[in-house]
Amino acid sequence: MSQPLYDRAVEILARNDLGYYTVPTHGLYPFQWNWDSALSALGQSYVNEARAWTEIETLFVHQWPDGMVPHIIFHKEDDGYFPGPAVWDTGRAVPTSGITQPPVTGFAVRKLYERARDQPMARARAQTLLPKIHAWHDWFFATRDPERTGLVAIIHPWESGRDNSADWNAALSRVPTEDLDTSHRRDILHANPSHRPTNEQYQRYFWLVKHFRSLGWDTARLHDGSPFRVVDPGFNAILLRSCSDLAWLAKELGETEIAATAKTQAEKGLAAMDGLWSALHQQYLCYDRVLDAPIPCLTVGGLLPIFAGISPERSTQIAARLSALAERTTFMIPSHDPNTPEYDGERYWLGPTWLIVNYMIADGLTRDGHIDIAARIVTDSMKLIVESGFSEYYDPMTGAPCGGPHFTWTAAMVIEFLKQTGSVT
Ligand code: GLC
Repeated sequence: MSQPLYDRAVEILARNDLGYYTVPTHGLYPFQWNWDSALSALGQSYVNEARAWTEIETLFVHQWPDGMVPHIIFHKEDDGYFPGPAVWDTGRAVPTSGITQPPVTGFAVRKLYERARDQPMARARAQTLLPKIHAWHDWFFATRDPERTGLVAIIHPWESGRDNSADWNAALSRVPTEDLDTSHRRDILHANPSHRPTNEQYQRYFWLVKHFRSLGWDTARLHDGSPFRVVDPGFNAILLRSCSDLAWLAKELGETEIAATAKTQAEKGLAAMDGLWSALHQQYLCYDRVLDAPIPCLTVGGLLPIFAGISPERSTQIAARLSALAERTTFMIPSHDPNTPEYDGERYWLGPTWLIVNYMIADGLTRDGHIDIAARIVTDSMKLIVESGFSEYYDPMTGAPCGGPHFTWTAAMVIEFLKQTGSVT
């Protein structure tokens, strides 16, 4: 049974491959997305190693001079997506958005390097990417952590990768809704509207884009200029894991200065992360930098720090919290705790299960020795694929497929799981 699944996953990667970048899925997301590409390169590395490196290199061709790597690169025109390049108007030769996404490339590049069959190629390509990824991390700490706390803020829900999470509701309510005729929305033409964000949320997302545009896309001004500034433990976990992995890679490649800085960034951030721990909820919480207060919302963002390399005590607590969730969930891991009023099993990040999150959390659990709960997450992930195909996300109770079909990073994660469990060789 495993080989046909593997073959189907490979077919999906090919279907969405435009030569030097891969779209998340045709129609709904017709451009290159930042963390989709980094995670998809993992699956691709088993299929075509050289092509996997290219996926990440293409992202960095479009890195901004200040170090930021944008969340979307609009390689070709496509009016099936809104807001397109004309709305962002960031002034780049190949248009890009002006915000970023979870920086998972440091992690992905280490993996690509470690598993490389072609070691000389991996060495050369990793060596070239290394300073670019490091510049992106430095950009984060310089512009998104002006008070040098060790943790960075996101300034738009889209940066988190968990677009409509309830984590953002309170902070987003400070953002005006005016001025968007929501008939411009294209996402609800491609996917069921009840699986997508609401019109009101779209208006606020749009307002933020226009506001940043009015600040001239000067990324040094956007943090302080944004009414939305949230420290997301999930986002920071990904950044800090990438810093640690980059430190490892830099040491391996003899880049001692990068290695030392990246290690310090990871250590400082991990120490600060503990300040987001909630003893009451037994998980991490987001923090609203404008209000200077935690956001008491039970989302998977607060469980992702297990990916970063937290203390054994916290790791055991997160494993216990996941085991408790597993008792009341059919398909782990719900993106929002089903026992809370905001939960909606089909609406995007308000409940649905996402394979990329499962992959990162299972990775942390396995590294920390929480084997049983990690195995449950992997088994559930594979069951979803068998029952519901390669969807964007799934209802954690019914397993129903939600969002877009033929999804690239879902296929990539299936390849990862099949390889990890030795189900295919
Ligand atoms: C949605 C997801 C985001 C992803 C993008 C492309 O916006 O929330 O995480 O990167 O789709 O797949």
